[in-house]
Amino acid sequence: MTENRNYQLKEIKEMLLLQGEDASSLHREANSLTENLFGKSVFVRGIIEFSNVCAKNCAYCGIRRDNRKVKRYHMDKDYIKQIIFEAYRDGFRTIVLQSGEVDTYDHDITEVIEYVKSKCDIAITLSMGEKSREQYVEWKKAGADRYLLRIETTNKKLFKTLHPDDDYENRLKSLLTLKELGFEAGTGVMIGLPGQTAEDMANDILFFKEHDFDMLGVGPFIPHNDTPLKGHTSTAFEKVLNFVSAMRLVTYDTNIPATTSMATLERDGREMALNAGANVIMPNYTPQIYRESYKLYENKICTDEDAERTMELTRATVENAGKVLVMERGDRRARRDEQKQCAGTSVNRPGDSN
Ligand code: 5AD
Ligand code: SF4
Repeated sequence: MTENRNYQLKEIKEMLLLQGEDASSLHREANSLTENLFGKSVFVRGIIEFSNVCAKNCAYCGIRRDNRKVKRYHMDKDYIKQIIFEAYRDGFRTIVLQSGEVDTYDHDITEVIEYVKSKCDIAITLSMGEKSREQYVEWKKAGADRYLLRIETTNKKLFKTLHPDDDYENRLKSLLTLKELGFEAGTGVMIGLPGQTAEDMANDILFFKEHDFDMLGVGPFIPHNDTPLKGHTSTAFEKVLNFVSAMRLVTYDTNIPATTSMATLERDGREMALNAGANVIMPNYTPQIYRESYKLYENKICTDEDAERTMELTRATVENAGKVLVMERGDRRARRDEQKQCAGTSVNRPGDSN
């Protein structure tokens, strides 16, 4: 089995630049490590985009504050609870509550988490942006399990140009707070941002490894016509696959989703990612009437179908990739603990340096 070793910046950069048969061979190596760690299992998480109201103006994002063409919505807390219970009945054991960044609904979400957790055993992941430490504590106490907050790029200069409202060090501080509070913490970046280099992307992967994040959600940058980045081009899909494979090899047992933006750039993109290192799929569980209003980028897939159809297609995607859809929670920390117990008293995996 490919061991968990420390890769150098130069090696990672070389992986990202591979082409043709050399790239395919990298993807096979990452897939074989993934299958050694997880078998053919692909964990599923349902995403509920409960509000598209956002106070920020990220340069790339279709629901940024200044895009007046977006019809803004938010779901009330009883409706969110109802959707989560439906997802539970459909077999989901993880849901992701995602929204734009405003504080308005924070306490509603606390109530949703407390109520849902008192009724059923489902992992709750939040993806609601940068908040105060007190707010993260409130959600943790309510029972939230995981938090996703993408760093978007670790190139600090590029970060600044893309995020007029944000500060890189604050974003990092939020991520570290989430880890410290015991959330399973996920982060991620966009691939192919204007001005981003292979070295930047290799640094992104080293950043994931350095902070030992549990989940790594990445996808290609895809321009949106009502943003300042309209007219820029997306990257070649091979670069996205190389990035997924390099993340798998470097960060070893993290949860890596095959994301919607991958399938938007390349029709079979998620199947390809599931054969190049990804082990998670995140179907959209948002009711269809809202999906068109949560367009972060052009041509986002699944906006014209309902949750049932999305589920059928998700199953087909996983099966086409030769894998098996698994509905269980798929916690990284619990899996690690089990593996340590199975290994007896030894707590270090080969090559584990920390
Ligand atoms: N292209 C690709 N991904 C995007 N996101 C936002 N806008 C775009 C875009 N134009 C991603 C960001 C954000 C996540 C919710 O969606 O990485 O964190
Ligand atoms: Fe708002 Fe998130 Fe879009 Fe930035 S990326 S504009 S914070 S929804």
